[in-house]
Amino acid sequence: MIRVLFAAFESLPFIKTGGLADVVYALPRAIDREQFDCKVVMPLLKPVKEKYYEGLKWKDKIYVHSGYINEEADIYSYDLDGVEYFFIDNENYFGRDGVYGFKDDVARFSFFNIAVIEMMIKLDYYPDIIHENDYHTALIPALCKLRYEAIEKIRKIRHIFTIHNLAYQGDYDKQVLFDLLSFDYKDFDNGSLRYNDHCNFMKIGIVFADKVTTVSKTYAMEIQTPERGENLDVILKYRREDLYGIVNGIDTEAFNPYTDKSIAYPYNTRNYLKGKRENKLALQKELGLKEEEDTLLLGMVSRLTFQKGADLLLGCMGELLKRNVQIAILGTGESRYEYAFRMLEDEHKGRFVYYCGYNEALAHRMYAGLDLLLMPSLFEPCGLSQLIAMRYGTLPLVRETGGLKDTVEPYNEYTDEGRGFTFGPYNAWDMLSVIDYAYTQYYDHKDAWKNLIKRAMRYDVSFARSAREYEEVYRKALNG
Ligand code: ADP
Ligand code: GLC
Repeated sequence: MIRVLFAAFESLPFIKTGGLADVVYALPRAIDREQFDCKVVMPLLKPVKEKYYEGLKWKDKIYVHSGYINEEADIYSYDLDGVEYFFIDNENYFGRDGVYGFKDDVARFSFFNIAVIEMMIKLDYYPDIIHENDYHTALIPALCKLRYEAIEKIRKIRHIFTIHNLAYQGDYDKQVLFDLLSFDYKDFDNGSLRYNDHCNFMKIGIVFADKVTTVSKTYAMEIQTPERGENLDVILKYRREDLYGIVNGIDTEAFNPYTDKSIAYPYNTRNYLKGKRENKLALQKELGLKEEEDTLLLGMVSRLTFQKGADLLLGCMGELLKRNVQIAILGTGESRYEYAFRMLEDEHKGRFVYYCGYNEALAHRMYAGLDLLLMPSLFEPCGLSQLIAMRYGTLPLVRETGGLKDTVEPYNEYTDEGRGFTFGPYNAWDMLSVIDYAYTQYYDHKDAWKNLIKRAMRYDVSFARSAREYEEVYRKALNG
């Protein structure tokens, strides 16, 4: 049995800010349980502690002394459908609402990375592999290899580091390496921990992990170029032999329109026409849109950051609203987008609606009720919204970048293939012309549209295939 420990800051069902939480939930479940024993370690954030208190079992206490950090923490364990979750509890760092975005995030991340290792020692639990996710946990490989290398059981652990988004790197003053993480100056001077004259968590993860993965094949190529490499392309290129692009999947049980309790009407590929219609009418009613089952309803479910392409939508909104469409946006993020969408809602009541906030159940109802989901991302490591949309028979309209390119095959009216719509250049007018194409298909080619829905729903968006690829990478790391 190969033991794998996933380290991450968020996972469903406990807490979620984005797709990372979906993946950390789904992947350990998709990995073959006959051959791999997967566990997960996370910080015990306040909302999790409040909601899951009953099921938490106290395991032990650890002490973290590192630079200025001098804290203790409690280790809890939680059983979720046979997968063990370890939670590291420290009021000072994690007893707050929210996951990231605090002034002392670097201390919180540093503390957690060290605490994971202290936890392994205390529990005498040494996995064969630690699978780190994003920069928040990226220091674990370097700590194991530089600070804890005297302990053989720790030295022998192999590390898989997954980049979910290269745009967020954890770039800090170099003092962090010594003041919080107690690394040796020599490892900074010889360049292995140094990034320019900084400490960059992402860079350190990429350098010290045995294997590096990212969440789609196209993104794995893109990040090796200066355009999308976020200044780490040279390092990623240097590690290209150990860099794998493995596309995300979703948990098809958690996202299943036939069993989904949050939606108005359950459906599958047999009753999808009725299902889509009923859910669309229910969504229009809920959001205060005119209840018109024959009007094209398009929308977005997204964090509103520059990555997600809301600029393109705003760029052509005036023109788009001249068509017979309804638009629904669910998302929260940068205030410039929130403000612009609020203004549009005021101007176009009944046709344009903006729900500002994070709402899991409404997201499900949007996936069930929309006709078209827009994802005009500037870049997209993988993207899960387009996968969920397809599972729910909502056609994705995406920009050809990263995982969007790998998962959305564009509709070809001549061969009747494909399951969505795509455009290339990051340009509002290119997007609008593809929306217009989808618009024509929706209104004038109803049979083709129905086939598209069915193909989208039948497309395999599960994690099954990708889980086999991860297992392969785990084996390579152990044998390499
Ligand atoms: P990212 O991780 O970059 O935000 P993904 O497409 O990988 O993008 O994952 C986003 C996840 O978060 C999806 O499951 C999506 O449904 C969900 N999501 C995004 N915004 C919201 C929101 N405002 N309310 C509910 N769910 C949301
Ligand atoms: C990141 C990316 C997104 C990806 C998700 C899960 O948040 O922005 O594209 O799907 O991680 O890997």
